Amino acid sequence: MFSESRYRVHVCLGPNCGPNGSKRTLAAFEAEIARLGLGVDVELIATSCRGRCELGPSVNVYPGSVHYGHVDEIAAELICLQHLARDEVVEELVVETPSRWTKGRR
Ligand code: FES
Repeated sequence: MFSESRYRVHVCLGPNCGPNGSKRTLAAFEAEIARLGLGVDVELIATSCRGRCELGPSVNVYPGSVHYGHVDEIAAELICLQHLARDEVVEELVVETPSRWTKGRR
């Protein structure tokens, strides 16, 4: 069954992202999603390796997906404030975005 949430956020806790701080990134997402009252709109999921280890901590936001790289706690807060709360991709943190996400978007 598919999620009813508006967004799904996948935070990699794999063997390369983990030592780069992805548990702190996940905790920052949890805290900021709660602080902003976005719990109904966002499903937060810890994942295994996504094959982009050199970009860790690696985060994907769906729909898209929009792939964010090197996401520390500050970046996680910015993604929550801008992408998840205001529907605006944080372009400076994007390492991969499919054209279907950006075409026709405001
Ligand atoms: S360990 Fe995170 S992408 Fe590989």
